[in-house]
Amino acid sequence: MSSGTRRPARLALALLSIAVVAAGCGGGGGSSSTADVPQLSAKQAKDPALVQGRKVWAANCTRCHGLDGQGGVGPKLAGEVAGDFPAVADQIALVANGKGIMPAWKSDLTPAQIRDVVRYTREVL
Ligand code: HEC
Repeated sequence: MSSGTRRPARLALALLSIAVVAAGCGGGGGSSSTADVPQLSAKQAKDPALVQGRKVWAANCTRCHGLDGQGGVGPKLAGEVAGDFPAVADQIALVANGKGIMPAWKSDLTPAQIRDVVRYTREVL
């Protein structure tokens, strides 16, 4: 009988620790906060597409390309990516479709989000 009354308490404790672990993962999760990534100039900050692109970058791309696009698992983008893709449409296609380890983003991001993050990598990083 006594063990019967203790079991629910132990279950509650187990559920609580799972919740704590899950909350911890949600905070890290491989994404960074917008405050951690390169800021927009005053002029760029008036462009909603770049504001959105910065958020998309912080949430999805930094774990491989670095907070400031200096590279990591993925190649350095800062200062180089616009030269690698003279036609912006080619860069949009690569981000949408992926390549090797680079994930395809077309099912997770809208076409507008992909356009915006591509502009951020070309114009801000
Ligand atoms: C899981 C790691 C990973 C994530 C997350 C990731 N990338 Fe990549 N990315 C890569 C790798 C690896 C390559 C190199 C692909 C190749 O050439 O084989 C790459 C290549 C690229 C390139 C081409 C660079 C060049 O000059 O050839 C661009 C642009 C790019 N990524 C943008 C992004 C954007 C934007 C995001 C976020 C929406 C992102 N990546 C998220 C790993 C990642």
